[in-house]
Amino acid sequence: METVKMLVGSVAEIDPKGSRLVRVNDMEIALFRLSDGEILAVENKCPHKGGVLSEGMVCGRMVHCPLHDWRIDLRSGAVQEPDTGCVATFPVEVDPEQGLVFLRVSTGVPS
Ligand code: FES
Repeated sequence: METVKMLVGSVAEIDPKGSRLVRVNDMEIALFRLSDGEILAVENKCPHKGGVLSEGMVCGRMVHCPLHDWRIDLRSGAVQEPDTGCVATFPVEVDPEQGLVFLRVSTGVPS
């Protein structure tokens, strides 16, 4: 699949240890800003029962699902033991001079 680089907002729009929801190609993607400033993006849907991850609490590089507290690694998308599963992750690029956040997302078109 081809990917495109898409502007989704600015760093300033995401509070430290907070999140921001964006919609890309009919999919909800949650952007998280870690306490060290790193920005990571995952599908905004918990693999357990669809909890809204952008409403979860960020701790380190994990987000705690707001429904049943599953922990999900925002870098790998992996659910932490003893639970299992994963969410899609998306590459994030930040323009440090302009403070802009870009996502690399699939166009759905075979390359
Ligand atoms: S829906 Fe996320 S832990 Fe249950």
